[in-house]
Amino acid sequence: MSILLSLVFFPLLSLGHRLEGCEDSWCNNDGPVIHFPFRLSHQLKHCGYPGFELHCNNKNDTILELPSSVHLVVEKIDYVSHQIHLYDPDECIATKLPKLNLSQSNFRNADDLTVLFNCSEPFTDSNDSYLVPCLGSSGYQVHAVTSTFNLDFLLSGPCTKIHQYPYSD
Ligand SMILES: *[C@@H]1O[C@H](CO)[C@@H](O)[C@H](O)[C@H]1NC(C)=O
Ligand SMILES: *[C@@H]1O[C@H](CO)[C@@H](O)[C@H](O)[C@H]1NC(C)=O
Ligand SMILES: *[C@@H]1O[C@H](CO)[C@@H](O)[C@H](O)[C@H]1NC(C)=O
Ligand SMILES: *[C@@H]1O[C@H](CO)[C@@H](O)[C@H](O)[C@H]1NC(C)=O
Repeated sequence: MSILLSLVFFPLLSLGHRLEGCEDSWCNNDGPVIHFPFRLSHQLKHCGYPGFELHCNNKNDTILELPSSVHLVVEKIDYVSHQIHLYDPDECIATKLPKLNLSQSNFRNADDLTVLFNCSEPFTDSNDSYLVPCLGSSGYQVHAVTSTFNLDFLLSGPCTKIHQYPYSD
């Protein structure tokens, strides 16, 4: 499953220390280890920071709810670089990005920009571009691309820009 959204989380203080009554926890053995500032919903409130509550869904995926009501699966939590890598369980993150409003949260985009392109010819995805199958239509593919990708390549090719997140204006 592709990682489609990387966020930086803060505050960055006291991420390492153990809090009383707070065990490291996880939703499945392959899932991320959960500890401060994150906590699982059944753990004590002081085990996590407000807005950092995770829960396990019925597939044992680790779920983070971001404002407003955007539920994403946590693929990885990097407690050193303070980044969290997320993907959409419905494999259609492009429909969720417009709903995401991080302005009142303790998360910020790690990628500067995600741009959606509608392409009349297939192309092979690389590390910083992803097919968005749910938006495709007959003869067309939609790809989500992060800012590190060479956009000139797409714009000079058979693709048109249809959406970008966060919005620039
Ligand atoms: C979820 O985890 C529990 C406990 O480890 C296990 O019994 C169950 O089979 C898992 N469910 C799925 C869908 O993987
Ligand atoms: C995001 O939320 C803030 C406060 O909750 C609001 O002021 C702002 O207009 C929202 N932005 C968008 C793009 O909806
Ligand atoms: C992509 O472009 C085609 C042709 O203009 C259009 O029919 C289709 O709806 C577009 N898809 C999206 C998701 O904008
Ligand atoms: C993609 O990422 C992998 C692992 O991070 C790296 O080894 C590889 O060189 C990258 N490929 C490209 C085309 O950047």
